[in-house]
Formats: sequence, structure tokens, C-alpha cells
Amino acid sequence: MSILEILQYPDLRLRRKSHPVTDVKATKIQKIIETMTDTLLDQESCAGLASTQLDIGEPPSIVVINPSGNKSQDSILCLINPQITATEGDTICEEGCMSVCPTMISARIKRASKINVVALDIDGNKLEFEAEGFLARCIQHECDHLQGILYIDHLSKLKRAFLDKKIAKLLQTN
Ligand code: NI
Repeated sequence: MSILEILQYPDLRLRRKSHPVTDVKATKIQKIIETMTDTLLDQESCAGLASTQLDIGEPPSIVVINPSGNKSQDSILCLINPQITATEGDTICEEGCMSVCPTMISARIKRASKINVVALDIDGNKLEFEAEGFLARCIQHECDHLQGILYIDHLSKLKRAFLDKKIAKLLQTN
């Protein structure tokens, strides 16, 4: 089992954009998926992780999601090269991130309430599905990570400035 440290904001590596995976079955890719899964399951409470949150060189476009929170490999959804192909409606909900003072910082973020997703699974098979509710929110959050975007980037300037101050204070005391 190998576990990697989750990069913490304002680490600039969180701003990297992921690279499309061309060979899902490559040993290197399978190893990264395994490490990401282990790292996710090692956290007390973690709904998802993107490769760009870990110290991986040229992070490939991979996310692992655990919407049920069960501590089991079987409950993990791995999406490779995920694309959101359609969105519907919107919903505002409290959101946090393992890379932004987890458990201490959260904010209400607007997301699409329903999405269509196209991705590859760990065997390289094409997945196409509709998601809503918490799963849809997780996928949107993680797909943002793959583009170097954090949930706090969706806030208004004023709210962001307030949150950045709070984060700076937290980082000072820790
Ligand atoms: Ni996150």
C-alpha cells in the first residue's frame, strides 16, 4: 500500500492541468490509480481525489470518488479522462476540499444539479452516465481539480478575500 501526501493550498502544484491518459493499462497508470485509491481510503473523510492533488509528475487525467464514504475498494469509482458533456439546473451546497484546510474551511458553491459524464474505467472501457445530487457535485469538483481549479475559485471576490484571510490565519497557527 502506498499513500501520498495531499498537496495543500496555496501550493502552486494544485494549479497544474492534468494530461489525457493514452494507455489505461500501462503499469504506471495502474500504479497511480492504486496509490490514489489507497490515499483516499487512508483519509478520515474524503469523498474524492484528483491526481493533481498529489505529488505526481505530469499528473494524468484521473479521479477517484467515494460518494458513499465506505472504507472499501469496491465503493470507489475511478474515472479516467472524465468529461462533463452536458449539465442541467443548478444547486447551491456547502463544499470543502482535502487540499484547502479540510474540516476547517468550507463554502457554499453553485454547481449543476445534473450532469452527463463520459470517461474510461480502469480497464479502459468507455463509461457514459448521468449523475445527480452528491455524486454530480463530487464529479464537478474533481474535474475542476484536473484543470487546476479549486472550489474557492468559484466564489465572489469579496467572499474569496474573506476566506483567504481565514485560511492565512489557520496556516499561521498550524
Ligand atoms: Ni478537492
